[in-house]
Amino acid sequence: MRYGRFDDERREYVITRPDTPLPWINYLGSRDYIGLISNTAGGYSFYRDPRMRRLTRYRYNNVPFDTGGRYLYLRDADTGEFWSPTWQPTRGDLQAYTCRHGMGYTIIASTYRGVEARIRYFVPVDDPLEIWQLTLTNRRDRPVSLSIFSAVEFCLWDAQDDATNYQRNFNTGEVEIDDSVIYHKTEYRERRNHFAFFACSEPLSGFDTQRAAFLGPYRGWDAPLAVARGESFNSIAHGWAPMGSHHVELRLEPGQSHPAIFLLGYHENPPAHKFDPPGSQAINKSTVKPLIQRYLDGDAVDPAFERLRDYWDDLLGVFQVHTPDPHTDRMVNVWNAYQCMVTFNLSRSASLFESGIGRGMGFRDSNQDLLGFVHMAPRRARQRILDLTATQMASGGAYHQYQPLTKRGNDEIGGDFNDDPLWLVLSVAAYLKETGDWPILDEMVPYENLPGSEQPLYEHLQRSLTYTLDRLGPHGLPLIGRADWNDCLNLNVFSADPDDSFQTAPLKKDGTVAESVFIAGLFVLAARELVPIARKRGAEDDARQYHQAAVEMACRVQEHGWDGDWFLRAYDAFGDRVGSRACDEGQIYIEPQGMCVMAGIGLEDQRAVQALDAVADRLLTEHGIMLHHPAYTRYQIRLGEISSYPPGYKENSSTFCHTNPWIMIAETLLGRGDRAHDYYVRINPSAREPISDVHRCEPYVYAQTIAGRDAPTHGEAKNAWLTGTAAWNYVAITQWILGIRPTFEGLQIAPVIPGHWDGFEATRVFRGVTYRISVDRVGEGNAVRLTVDGQEIPGDIVPLPEEGIQDITVRVQLG
Ligand code: GLC
Ligand code: GLC
Repeated sequence: MRYGRFDDERREYVITRPDTPLPWINYLGSRDYIGLISNTAGGYSFYRDPRMRRLTRYRYNNVPFDTGGRYLYLRDADTGEFWSPTWQPTRGDLQAYTCRHGMGYTIIASTYRGVEARIRYFVPVDDPLEIWQLTLTNRRDRPVSLSIFSAVEFCLWDAQDDATNYQRNFNTGEVEIDDSVIYHKTEYRERRNHFAFFACSEPLSGFDTQRAAFLGPYRGWDAPLAVARGESFNSIAHGWAPMGSHHVELRLEPGQSHPAIFLLGYHENPPAHKFDPPGSQAINKSTVKPLIQRYLDGDAVDPAFERLRDYWDDLLGVFQVHTPDPHTDRMVNVWNAYQCMVTFNLSRSASLFESGIGRGMGFRDSNQDLLGFVHMAPRRARQRILDLTATQMASGGAYHQYQPLTKRGNDEIGGDFNDDPLWLVLSVAAYLKETGDWPILDEMVPYENLPGSEQPLYEHLQRSLTYTLDRLGPHGLPLIGRADWNDCLNLNVFSADPDDSFQTAPLKKDGTVAESVFIAGLFVLAARELVPIARKRGAEDDARQYHQAAVEMACRVQEHGWDGDWFLRAYDAFGDRVGSRACDEGQIYIEPQGMCVMAGIGLEDQRAVQALDAVADRLLTEHGIMLHHPAYTRYQIRLGEISSYPPGYKENSSTFCHTNPWIMIAETLLGRGDRAHDYYVRINPSAREPISDVHRCEPYVYAQTIAGRDAPTHGEAKNAWLTGTAAWNYVAITQWILGIRPTFEGLQIAPVIPGHWDGFEATRVFRGVTYRISVDRVGEGNAVRLTVDGQEIPGDIVPLPEEGIQDITVRVQLG
């Protein structure tokens, strides 16, 4: 069953009924000011940090679902009837409801008893505010007198404190009202230089800023007293729950339309000029008024929207494809790229599953997110690499997370996730291939942000590898530490205390025994990436050393990391096998099959084939490839959190979508395009759109997990949006299945596509040059014959062109 449709032309997903299985959201803003918005206008906004600078309040896990948002109410003065044009929070019987989620904007439209409303929500590219552009049209054959009430509930900035510290918070709330602008200034009197503003373009009949007054005693957002009676209370918040509500009255003739603009924004004042008049406690508004005025006048709004469109045209224009499969096109050209941008911006901080108060920027997460984003905004990728690197420890290890406002490592979580530093090598390698920005390797970057500890980025990469080599176990395989990529495979934690967090509990074992075959594979991949980088710097000895280290590690995997039919997952703290035929449960894991083959292990003998065939036999479901199987049916102290989840969920044997592209890539290395693309389609959100009632999450973005075969709700997705799934699927489809990948020498074109495809077309902007690529299948295999601007060339890499060349036409004969 569907709840909407794709509008590919406009790059929108159009939701056609408001009661989607879960709120289906979008993101507004892509830099400092960010908002989440659901298909019924739920969600919240923040400035840079969703915990410390949250503008509006949102109630996670509330009933009804999706409480807190950007609410508008309309009230018919003649009948007293009121409704929300966005459905929530009144949930009336709307006609012609649509929600169009687009690139950085959302448009919700509906009609109720002949009153048509359309609201376009977006954040301009350069300004820290969101615009709600409302248009009301009277489709009745008689005039209508309407009231509009807006409503947002302010968050008292620190979202964690806001949700817990009521003995203080009920006292601190403060606002100012000036014309039609409501200023939220809680704590401005003391150490904050920032405030929020909520402005309206229309003359006001009234306003409210105290929630209790607006809603009335024991009433909810679905029937605020002010709206029901058709008149604001002009309340001023002193403590309790500051909110913003404007009341506008208007009369519309039949057929008449009326626009109105609401602005919600964030502003900082210079500390020395906080107050006006100086010495008072009133906000100095002179710094923000011009900005507010510019957008309220209306003339600036449409151009700002056009600029947002151009911004996305440019980003998405870097890579466009036309293939025989509409799901591939739609995800590559629009939604997957878009999701990559969102995950790059937000890491795992704020979604409907991530509350914005828990997690900072993950070290491994952000490095992987960069893989899906680097081609769209290489400058921002560069900065991200340097920020991440600055949190690396002198040992080569990494803080597992850092805080976006301070860019410092998070002490509460610390390090010891032994895979972490290796991902830095992959992200830097991807960045270098994309940009050719070799000087970045000489950028001086500190360890743990400590002044005086600066070393070239290149040395940081070296230490990332050394960190693994310094921590080898009894079989010469990398020690796992607290966990590797799989946060829940906790082989040294041995927690029997329900109050422990698996992420931070003290390790009960000294960590000298449990080894990870996955890290071994990742190490080989990273070391192989570093070889040409070292060589390019003229560091031949380094290159030889890394090559040798990769070869040796690969041998150890072959010797101790092979279980007979597939790669073993790990050795536990007793030296026993994990992910082996010998186990009762969890006999085969997906991660080492993907990572080892990606690293080239087993390609020369038949092991890679065997391992991937075992994946197909034992892990594949119609809803993607499960993380391991059989699922753990009980808690196993020696394995940790992985066995804490009920069978089929999360790390206990769901389709953990992040890992599926590793298998797709591995399959392309074996030349098996049919399989690779089949796996791709199984978890492709667009391809799953017809089963939206099973999948339940948004059909336009990936979710982290899809419940596995052992779950009662097999096929049900959870944790949409903020997942490494976005970047890796993007890499798998664009670079390995379509086969268009940046290399140090030029753009490689080596498609491994399904046998029945007769080809495809693509445009790729690479290092400032536009490549127009057309691939024609001439035979069954994957061999490539390249014709570049009419000239046949050997190999599958289009060499970097001479200076000045802007466009290159590439014809590929594949067979
Ligand atoms: C979550 C984490 C990621 C981890 C994965 C598997 O997505 O953010 O770092 O690799 O779970 O446990
Ligand atoms: C839990 C989740 C895992 C996530 C981790 C991050 O362990 O299962 O997916 O990576 O929390 O804190």
